[in-house]
Order: sequence, then C-alpha cells, then structure tokens
Amino acid sequence: MIDERDGVLHSWCVQDQWQAPTIVGGRGARFWAADGRAWLDMSSLAECSHLGHQHPRLVEAIRSQAEQLCFVTNAWGAQPRAELASLLLETAGFEGGRVFFTLGGADANEHAVKFARQARGLVKGWVITRDRSYHGASYAGMALSGDSRTQDQVAAEDFRVSHVPAPYTYRCPWETDHPAVCGERAAQAVAERIDSLGSAEVAAVLMEPNAGTNGIVAPDNYWPALRSLTSARQVLLIADEVMSGFGRCGEWFAWQRYGADQAPDLMSLAKGLTGAHLPLGAVVISSPIAHALQSQMLLTGLTYCGHPLACAAGVAAIRSYQQEGLIERSRHLGQQMFAQLIDLQARHRIIGEVRGGHGLFAVLELVSDRLTRAPLSIWPNMHEGLRRLLQRGFDAGVSFAARGNLLILAPPLVIEEHDLGNALDLLDRLLAQLAQELAADADQREIA
Ligand SMILES: Cc1ncc(COP(=O)(O)O)c(C=O)c1O
Repeated sequence: MIDERDGVLHSWCVQDQWQAPTIVGGRGARFWAADGRAWLDMSSLAECSHLGHQHPRLVEAIRSQAEQLCFVTNAWGAQPRAELASLLLETAGFEGGRVFFTLGGADANEHAVKFARQARGLVKGWVITRDRSYHGASYAGMALSGDSRTQDQVAAEDFRVSHVPAPYTYRCPWETDHPAVCGERAAQAVAERIDSLGSAEVAAVLMEPNAGTNGIVAPDNYWPALRSLTSARQVLLIADEVMSGFGRCGEWFAWQRYGADQAPDLMSLAKGLTGAHLPLGAVVISSPIAHALQSQMLLTGLTYCGHPLACAAGVAAIRSYQQEGLIERSRHLGQQMFAQLIDLQARHRIIGEVRGGHGLFAVLELVSDRLTRAPLSIWPNMHEGLRRLLQRGFDAGVSFAARGNLLILAPPLVIEEHDLGNALDLLDRLLAQLAQELAADADQREIA
C-alpha cells in the first residue's frame, strides 16, 4: 500500500510531523486500518461524520444516483437537488426561501455574505463576526474568522469584516463571572459596532448561534439578543451552522433551541449535510431575502453547485436523521455525556470548565490551576501532556480530538451507548494519568 506521507500536502500540520495510518473502512462510530487496528471516533473526524462511517443508506443512495446521473450543472435541473432544497427549507421552517449549494463550509459562508450584501444593496457592506471564531480557510473565510492562527495572512478590513469580542463566559472579556452578563455585554458590543460603523453600512452579522468550533459555547441570552438588535437596525443575521447543524447541538439547527421566532435571515451548512459522505455545503435563505434576490442578476456560481451525487447523499442523510430519530438521540445522549463529564470535572482539577450538553458536543477546558483558571497551554498551542493523552487514547483504540487546551467531544450521533460510556471511562483514566504526570513535573521543578 502506498503511504500518502510522501505525496500529499496535509492541512493544519507541519508536514514532517504528519503521521497517521491509512484508513480503509468504517462502520457506525468506528473506522479501521488495513492492519486490523480500529478506532472509536469521539470527534466525528472533523465534527462532520454525524451519521457514522459508511452509513448503508448513504452508500446506497450514492450508488443508485451514480448509476442514473452523476452530473449536470445547475443550468439544468436535477431531481436530488430539488428534493434536498425542499427538505432543507422544510426542516429550517424557511417557507418561500431558497437554497444555494456550495462544496463546503467556507464557500457557504462566503456566499451567505454575498447574498446578504446583495439583498441589502450594499455590495461592500460591513460584516461583523467575532473573535475566536472559525468560518473557513479560504481568504474570505480567514477574514471572517477570528482565528489567531491565520489572522496575519489577511487584513479583515480589506474584506470589510469587523471583529467583536466573543461571549467567552469562562474568560469573559468584560471580567464578569455571570454568563448572562457576559452574553449581554457581548451582544451590546455588536450593537455598538453596528452603530459606530453606521447601520446603513453594515450588511450582516455572521455568528455561530450556540456551540463554536473554537470551543466557545455562547450563553443562552446571546443569540436572542443578536436577533433583536440586528432586526432593530435592519442588519441581516447569518447563522454559521456548518458545525452546529444537523443534531450536533440537539436540534436540526442550533438556533432552533431559541424558538422559531429567533430564526436567522440566512444560514450556512456543510459537514452533517451529507454526514461527510460527499462534499457539500449550502446557504439556506429565508423568504424575504429570496424575494429581494428574485429579480436581480446573481453574479456568482460554482461548477459543482448542487452536484447530483452530493445532493442524493444529502437527501439520504436527512431521511436518516428523520427516520432513525438521530436529532432526539443526540439531545438525549448529549445530556447523558454532559452529566458524565461534570462527574469527571468533580474528580479532575485539570478540568476547568465543561461546556455544551445540548447535543453530542462538549468541550473540556483544561487548566493548570483551577483557582486562577490558568490554561494548560496558551491558545492555540497544545501542552505536551495533552498530546500524550491523545496518543494513549489512539493506542487504546479511541480517537479523541483537542484544540489548544480544549478537549472536544463530538462523537457520531449513531454511537452506541456502551461505546460512549467506555470512551468516557478511558478518558477518566487518561486524565488521572495526566494529572499524576503534571504533579510529578511540578515536584521535580520544586526540587530543582
Ligand atoms: C463553524 C464552521 N464554519 C465553517 C467551516 C469551514 O468548513 P469547510 O472546512 O467545509 O470549508 C468550519 C469547518 O470546520 C466550521 O466548523
């Protein structure tokens, strides 16, 4: 078997350090290598394999669509494209809206911004996003993201993007310990930024409604406050649901937790849209925006917009979420997982905070001192001890994911309850081992 180390340029890593087994198959929450080693997936790979690996309904839908029609551009109609658009509008409750298909999350966000600007008649209108956010790695994606790793590659202002502080309640920029106060201040910062730029110059606010890819979970008053302050100023609200959509936060879309009257004007989707069985993204546009765009020329397009194979996978994915009750399952198992993680926090002082819990998504923020909340490592760096923990999990057949000092738990929504329980028991042991090593290191430093 050819090792891809020599030929492939890998993302988000130093090439010399890339090493990973070649994966040859998977089923449910597991995937495996040719030598027989298998891993339980506790992160849905990049938080995208919501349906697990090789979901039979998806594989069959792709096979059957491939036999009928692999491709036609969207200058022509295609049945799976029409069907998927109608299913998305129905699940979002966006009656009279429209769907624009993309290839993934970054281009979905870029297009959401394009459409918002066009609908507002502000071709170069400002877009407000927040610090510590991730919206994609294309140039506009990097400009939209509040990501310290890539901020030097692009000047956000050149893309007419303005960043505001995040509602990071554990380390609130306004130095309060009350989540609701932090949420209120963070929303107020958005209102003030719109007012200072001039609401007639601001096209949209783009945010993740609840759980964020970079580990921040917004307090409950944040999204409703954003909805009300943007509506009051006639600025459009875009929900980036690329990661949080399709049950990850216990609802079809995370904003739905706040009620139907808290809907965004547009939302961007990817990942769970096909459960990553094929690449696909989408911008779902509410009826007033669709109406505003109806008789204007749309100056954009992608060759593979609404690729029939990917759309067939999307239709099968939505049917699976519906018929297997996966949204409810994520809500139920997510609460269970959250309770177990709170238990772990009581036993391990290294866990500063546990966030999430609405669906199968949780973040453990690791600290070296719980009282001062000193992080285990400075974001986005990762502590060597956490690296070892991941490696030990890997050796024991469980794939955990971490970013900086955050452990991110986001297993496929189809994970078996006993697998989830066993993975959390393993995590318990790994955290105990890490705490012992950190204590031994500290003793050594004291002796020296
Ligand atoms: C919230 C969010 N938005 C956008 C993206 C970008 O998606 P893609 O990698 O498909 O371009 C991601 C990817 O991780 C994400 O988590």
